Amino acid sequence: MTRAFSGIQPTGDIHIGNYFGAIQNWVELGRRLGKQALFCIVDYHAITIPYRAEELADRTFEAALVNLAAGLDPAQTTLFVQSSVPAHTELTWILLTQTPLGDLERMTQFKDKSGQHSVLTGLLAYPALMAADILLYRADTIPVGEDQDQHLELTREVARRFNFLYGETFPEPRALHTEKALRVPGTDGQSKMSKSKGNTIGVLESPGQIAQKLRLTPTDPARVRRSDPGDPGRCTIYTYHQLFSTDATVQMVNWECRRAGIGCSDCKALLLRGIERELTPLQQRAAELRRQPDQVHQALEQGRREAAALAEPTLEEVRSRIGLYGAKRTSSGLQ
Ligand code: AMP
Ligand code: TRP
Repeated sequence: MTRAFSGIQPTGDIHIGNYFGAIQNWVELGRRLGKQALFCIVDYHAITIPYRAEELADRTFEAALVNLAAGLDPAQTTLFVQSSVPAHTELTWILLTQTPLGDLERMTQFKDKSGQHSVLTGLLAYPALMAADILLYRADTIPVGEDQDQHLELTREVARRFNFLYGETFPEPRALHTEKALRVPGTDGQSKMSKSKGNTIGVLESPGQIAQKLRLTPTDPARVRRSDPGDPGRCTIYTYHQLFSTDATVQMVNWECRRAGIGCSDCKALLLRGIERELTPLQQRAAELRRQPDQVHQALEQGRREAAALAEPTLEEVRSRIGLYGAKRTSSGLQ
């Protein structure tokens, strides 16, 4: 592993799916890889579906704040905003010209989202922008949830095609998944937790708000009465216990549920304790950063400079390889 890159969209409040599926992994990688770990708030991705212009900058700030509050250290790693480094969109255009339409059309995320909104071509091009994010830094390790596997496969194909046509330029990136939480389920008990589905637990929500959501979260559907034994394997609350509670609590809950020793509301109350233990320190750091917004702005500005310094040479090489006039002139010394 030489360089890690990942992105998160500033589209809504960051939830525990993002936290366990992505951010915790980022913090850990940042500790191990230092400046070879780059994390990006991908605002150009966020505008591929209808959004509110007046909220975008605030949401971008919030996403950065949550990452910093979760323990990402800007002195040690690089955290920046995608649109602050124009090389991302420039490389996207170049890659788009090399990408078959069919490859983009068959992406399941594109098919899902285009069913929900009117289809803008930016939504179709989304994976090419993601490929550019990664290839611009020649990153080889991509910490993401498994929902991004198909986009990464496409990124590898784009890299391979480019290398074949223009010479070895990009390494082929690989996904890095957390063992713990590949797919955090939503509080509706139906589907993956997702900003667009309204089934989230936000990392900055108060215990009261979270308790309210947990109250409505369905448990094992076969456990109708308090005296019925339950199956933790079919219960969203149990999945959350595995994320938040101590091993001892997880074992106890598993055992007691199966023999109807505890009811679902006791089980939810126990879960809430684990959630508070995990999220309270993060929420305190978030409140401190909110009082000192310049710390967030400065971290992002420093990240922008670091990212741009890495991106520029790659973009120059690409420009030259595909034969652009300006690039050829500079590389052959003709000014
Ligand atoms: P997004 O919210 O789509 O910008 O996703 C940011 C990161 O969080 C990506 O790496 C996703 O794979 C990850 N992620 C989003 N939702 C979940 C979920 N419910 N479970 C696990 N990981 C998730
Ligand atoms: N598409 C990713 C998501 O929704 C976000 C993303 C954009 C990303 N660019 C990236 C993730 C580059 C990893 C690497 O989760």
